[in-house]
Amino acid sequence: MKKVLFVSSECVPFIKTGGLADVAGELPKYINKENYDVRVIIPNYKAIPEKFKKNFEYKTHFYMDLGWRKQYVGILETELNGVKFYLVDNEYYFNGDRPYGNMHEDIEKFAYFSRAVVSLLPYLEDFRPDLVHCNDWQTGLIPVFIKDFARGCDYYEGIKTIMTIHNLKFQGIWDIKVIQDVTGLGDEYFTSDKLEAYGSSNFLKGGLVYADYINTVSETYAEEIKMPFYGEGLDGLMRHRADTLCGIVNGIDYSEYNPATDKYILHHFTAEDFRKVKAKNKKELQKELGLEVDEKKFMIGLVSRLTDQKGLDLVECVMEEICDEDVQFVILGTGDPKYENLFRHYEHKYPENVSASIYYNNERAHRIYASCDAFLMPSLFEPCGLSQLMSMRYGTVPIVRETGGLKDTVEHYMPEEGTGTGFRFMNYNAHEMLDMIRYAKHTYYGRKREWNKIVERAMAKDFSWECSVKKYEELYDKVLGIAVPVVEEVVEETVAEEEAAE
Ligand code: GLC
Repeated sequence: MKKVLFVSSECVPFIKTGGLADVAGELPKYINKENYDVRVIIPNYKAIPEKFKKNFEYKTHFYMDLGWRKQYVGILETELNGVKFYLVDNEYYFNGDRPYGNMHEDIEKFAYFSRAVVSLLPYLEDFRPDLVHCNDWQTGLIPVFIKDFARGCDYYEGIKTIMTIHNLKFQGIWDIKVIQDVTGLGDEYFTSDKLEAYGSSNFLKGGLVYADYINTVSETYAEEIKMPFYGEGLDGLMRHRADTLCGIVNGIDYSEYNPATDKYILHHFTAEDFRKVKAKNKKELQKELGLEVDEKKFMIGLVSRLTDQKGLDLVECVMEEICDEDVQFVILGTGDPKYENLFRHYEHKYPENVSASIYYNNERAHRIYASCDAFLMPSLFEPCGLSQLMSMRYGTVPIVRETGGLKDTVEHYMPEEGTGTGFRFMNYNAHEMLDMIRYAKHTYYGRKREWNKIVERAMAKDFSWECSVKKYEELYDKVLGIAVPVVEEVVEETVAEEEAAE
């Protein structure tokens, strides 16, 4: 049995701000339990709802050395869907009403979290991980601490680490002196080949330097981050680690996102009957949102964190042109006030055709995926993206920019070949996006049979976790030194060579 500890700063169903939480909650669930014992550990935020908290059981606690201080570390445990989950307990650090607040506090919070995770390993009865799977900057110091602790303690020797990048933009950058203080790490770690970058200390870089293997959440993004445009200042390091860097696209939970059983939609449908049924959901949604009720109208959805990453400045630039009388535009999400206000403004201006829900509501998200005709995702960069996968599952055709995971999961519509599951544009240009939206709209209104075939092909794609999980299992094996195929090839070659020599 291979033991893997999956470390994350958020995880469904306990706490979520973005796609990382989905991956942390789902990937461990789908990993083959016969070969792998995968457990998950996250902070015990005050913001985790009581209904989950009450299921966790106190295991133990201890006091951890942290520079000149000693800090409390409590361990709580529960089991859900066959997976063990741990919470790291410390009221002082995890007291906020959401996981992340200002950087100044977050830096110290996740320095503590990372050190606590490494320090508590010996306290987990019957579970010494062979591999610690880290995710994003909040866990970047873990590979560093493991190597550091291994210098003085046999327990840590040989524990392997993987660093998964869900978003390279956030790195955990802060003043070196402060980081030395809150990590207790010696001067030798703060050089340009280790944690230092551009004069500051960088948590993610620590993970990227020290982890045995790095992966990101799509093959295209794994290539893109070797280039300055996407590399966020670390492209040099990514090129340097090219041999131990790969991309594995995320899956989505096919039991949670299923148009045939979804408890949040009124009219269930499948790839066989969507032609008749899907639009009934559109009508329901129009009523729910107070839009003009017309099941023939082309409806575009956008469910997203409202940030620059998501390409919303392109939308801002041509919002007026998008909102013509043939289109309904439904938005759900929160984020940058500039975009929140943009969408509120257009809802006010075109109440029949634009709806802006500036909050997050999972049930409504499901109804948008199920009811719209198209789904807009013009991201500036997109490590994987999950919404386009959810849309396709519900026969909602994605219109995306050709980047990262969007490029790997959405095939552009080619009328002559009769292929494609969506519409893609290449350059980060508002009018290129607008052209693609119009092309989609004309296909919808003018060539309905063709449109329906796109829907059919999108629904036929398989983005369940099954495929991605196999790749993670292979990666785990490779990092643990269990990979066979490559070795076999080499052996055969040598035997052949020897025979030839004889
Ligand atoms: C981040 C990325 C997104 C990815 C998700 C899960 O939120 O921005 O592209 O799908 O992580 O890996």
